[in-house]
Amino acid sequence: MSMANLGSASGLARKRLHIITWGCQMNAYDSGRMSDVLAPHGYDPVESPDGADLIILNTCHIRDKAAEKVFSELGRLRRLKDASKGRMVLAVAGCVAQAEGAEIFARAPYVDIVLGPQTYHRLPEMLAKAARTGSAVFEADFPAEDKFDHLPEQSTPKGVSAFLTVQEGCDKFCSFCVVPYTRGAEQSRSAISVLNEARRLIAQEVREITLLGQNVNAWRGEAPDGGLWAFKDLLRAVTELPGLIRLRYSTSHPCDMDDGLIAAHRDLEKLAPFLHLPVQSGSDRILAAMNRKHTSAEYRRLADCLRAARPDLALSSDFIVGYPGETDADFDATLRLVRDVGFAQAYSFKYSPRPGTPAAGVSGQIPENEKDARLQALQALLRRQQFRFNAGHVGSAMDILFTGPGRHPGQIVGRSQYLQPIHVAGPASIIGQERTVRIREVHANSLSGTLEQERQSA
Ligand code: SAH
Ligand code: SF4
Ligand code: F3S
Repeated sequence: MSMANLGSASGLARKRLHIITWGCQMNAYDSGRMSDVLAPHGYDPVESPDGADLIILNTCHIRDKAAEKVFSELGRLRRLKDASKGRMVLAVAGCVAQAEGAEIFARAPYVDIVLGPQTYHRLPEMLAKAARTGSAVFEADFPAEDKFDHLPEQSTPKGVSAFLTVQEGCDKFCSFCVVPYTRGAEQSRSAISVLNEARRLIAQEVREITLLGQNVNAWRGEAPDGGLWAFKDLLRAVTELPGLIRLRYSTSHPCDMDDGLIAAHRDLEKLAPFLHLPVQSGSDRILAAMNRKHTSAEYRRLADCLRAARPDLALSSDFIVGYPGETDADFDATLRLVRDVGFAQAYSFKYSPRPGTPAAGVSGQIPENEKDARLQALQALLRRQQFRFNAGHVGSAMDILFTGPGRHPGQIVGRSQYLQPIHVAGPASIIGQERTVRIREVHANSLSGTLEQERQSA
C-alpha cells in the first residue's frame, strides 16, 4: 500500500492523535510505539481529546474495575465522536480489546477499530480499511510476524527516562491472572533489535532505560553472534552502551531470578539497586493455590541472596489480598513476610475474579468487606515501611538523575536509584545529568535536597 493511499504524503493536512493509556508500563510503551507508527502517516500527538481525528483507548484487563472503566470512558468519547460529525475515528487497543473485542462492538457499536496488543504495527492499514469500507475493523490475532520487525526506527522523543519492551507474554499461568490470555505466550526480542532500539533512545538523550516484559527475566534471546543469551547477558550489553547512565528492568518473576542474574546486580554498576519482585502472598498454601511455583521461604532466601550481592538493593512487590480460601492465618503470613523482608515500595490489590481464569470459578471467594479490611491493614504496614525507607535517606548523599523542571520556578525534579521523586533548586542545565544531592527533607511522596558541588573530574 502506498503512503499516498494512507493520506500521509507530506503536504497533506496533519491529523490530531489522542491516546489514553491505562494499565502497566508495557501499555505505556505500546502507546508510544503506536504514536511512532502513526507519525509518518500524518498524525501528531495532542493532549486533549477535543477535536482529535483519532482517539485510541489503550486498555487494561487486569482487574474488574479496569475493564468496566473502558465502557464508561467510551460513553464519554461517544459524545465527542458524535459532535465531530463522522470525522473522528475511535479505536480500542490493549488487553480489553484482546479479551473482549466482540463485547466492545456489541456494547459500543460506534467504535471503529478494535486491535489487540500484537497487531498495532498494522494500524495504518486498519485506518485505511475503516475509511474505505466505513465498517468496523477487528484485529486481535497473534500474527506470525513479529511486530517489532515492523515498527518504525524513528521514534518521538522520550525524555530522560524511557521504557523498552524486550519480552512479551507469559507462560506462568498464575491462577488469578488474565495476562497469559491477553498477551499470549512468552516471546523474546533478539538482542540486536533491543540494542539498536536502546542506541536510538540514547541518541535522543535518553539516559535511563527500563527494560520491560511481563516476565522480563524470562528473556532468552538470539545473541548478536547468532548464539543464545540469557537475560544477564542482555543487561551487560545494554550497560556497555556509551551515554547510558542507568538501567532497570521490570517485572520479574521470582522463579526466573537465577544465580547469573543475581550476580549481575553485584557486577553491573549501572544496574539500579532496586528491583520489583512481586511475591503476591506470604502463605505457602495460597502461593500454591495461585500457582506461583515458589514458597515464602524461597522468596526470603532470594531476597537475602540479592542483598548479599548488592547490599544497597531495595525491593518492591505486588500483593493480592482475599484470594479464594485465604484465611486470617494466611493473611497474617503475608504481614509477617512484609515485616521480615521489608519493602521500599509496593502495590497491593483486592483479589478480583477474572473471567476465564481458574481462580474465578473456585469456592471460598472472600467477602468484599473482609478484602477491604485486609487491604487496609496491609497498606498501612506497607506505607509505614515506605516512609521509614524514605526517611532513612535524610542526611545522606544520593545520586539523582534529573528529568525535568519542577512545579515551582527554579525547581528541578529527578529520581533516585529507588525511583523516589526528588526536588532541588538548581539550573535547568542539570536535566539529563546524574548529580549528587544531599537529602534534607522527606515529604509525603517525595524527598527534597540540595545539590552537592560537582565532582572534580580527574
Ligand atoms: N507479571 C507480573 C505482574 C503482572 S500483573 C508478575 O508476575 O508479577 C500486575 C499485578 O496485578 C500482579 O502482580 C498482581 O498483584 C495483580 N493482579 C493480577 N491479577 C489480579 C487479579 N485477578 N486480582 C487482583 N490483582 C491482580
Ligand atoms: Fe500474570 Fe503470573 Fe504471568 Fe505475572 S507471572 S503475568 S501474575 S500469570
Ligand atoms: Fe493490564 Fe494488559 Fe498490562 S491486562 S496490566 S495492560 S499486560
